Amino acid sequence: MLDIARIRGDFPILERKVYGKPLVYLDSGATAQKPRCVIETVDYLHRELNANVHRGVHYLAEEATARYEEARERIRAFIGAGSREEIVFTAGATASLNTVAYAWCERFLHEGDNIVVSEMEHHSNLVPWQLAAQRRGAEVRMLPFDDAGRLMTKRLSDLLDRRTRVVAVTQASNTLGTRPDLRSLIDEAHRAGAVVVVDGCQGIVHGGVDVKAMDCDFYAFSGHKLYAPTGIGVLYGRRALLEQMPPFLSGGDMVDRVSFGGTTFAPLPLRFEAGTANFVGAIALGEAIRYIGQFDPVQIEAHEHTLLVRATELLGRVPGLRIYGTTPDKCAIVSFNVEGVHPYDLGMILDKLGIAVRTGQHCAEPVMTHYGVSGMCRASFAIYNTLDEAEALAAGVERAVGMLK
Ligand code: ALA
Repeated sequence: MLDIARIRGDFPILERKVYGKPLVYLDSGATAQKPRCVIETVDYLHRELNANVHRGVHYLAEEATARYEEARERIRAFIGAGSREEIVFTAGATASLNTVAYAWCERFLHEGDNIVVSEMEHHSNLVPWQLAAQRRGAEVRMLPFDDAGRLMTKRLSDLLDRRTRVVAVTQASNTLGTRPDLRSLIDEAHRAGAVVVVDGCQGIVHGGVDVKAMDCDFYAFSGHKLYAPTGIGVLYGRRALLEQMPPFLSGGDMVDRVSFGGTTFAPLPLRFEAGTANFVGAIALGEAIRYIGQFDPVQIEAHEHTLLVRATELLGRVPGLRIYGTTPDKCAIVSFNVEGVHPYDLGMILDKLGIAVRTGQHCAEPVMTHYGVSGMCRASFAIYNTLDEAEALAAGVERAVGMLK
């Protein structure tokens, strides 16, 4: 069993109060809180080891570079990638997805081609494909979900054809919590000759990933939802695909030789890491992964599931409350609305009770459109949340609804 009290003690922010009340932080889907070891790593790097990586022969530069590459190796092992060349550091999942949508599409997406995107994507895994399609004269096709929030993977065969180049899909929806059956979807997309780009922002937090077993072609995630700082993320790509992609962002460190006669480029993965790397973020992400890696992922999953089940059960008793996304194997995210109550009003009263949830469109407007709503409240759980907090959420909603109706 996880010792949640001890785990909470690793996250200093959880000790603070808001409006004189204990903080109940249920917005980890937007950004997770940071354990002390990550905070101390960032501090240590700035105080003791600040030097640009891959650029100097002096002691600090060598040490920082070694730590940066150690972090890359730790991430490689954590996601089950085959080689360090397949792990590209980026500014976050959005930057990772844009890298593929620009660089891969620049070479491989042509006029008349199409890209299939699931209806439940957050904007970072939709808008880059829309822009790529506009640039290249291609079409974006939507793979829908049903009212329970289940991705209608059987519809994929109607959308795929010999001009499908990309299928973009989430590992876990940030709004519905749905975890689509990616294995069969990926197999089918591959049979049609498409590459599959998986957004792992929420999925990697709730259950982890093995990119080889998943058999995706590209996989993107952000550090800050995985207990690391903001401004760091990862793009995993199959080596053969990354090697065929032209450079995207250009400048220092992604080059081999530069002259006014022309430029040649660095080998993978540095070819896609232009400019001074966020080595502080990368090393801190490695530390976050070391921290989370000390716990059994099955136990983390079971703990978060318990919270989800309890919150779902109690919220379900509030008259007029609807939960969006009810698939049985969903991750620990619960989005809801109460009839006659605006989600912002509900979120603001919860806030005054010390309960932090996300309100609005959750960067996933097509999901709102699907249900014909302008926004939702969303509670998203993490390893440090407790059953008491799941209960406080439901009690808070009940109280707020009583005030608003
Ligand atoms: N995409 C992030 C969320 O789900 C920001 O809140």
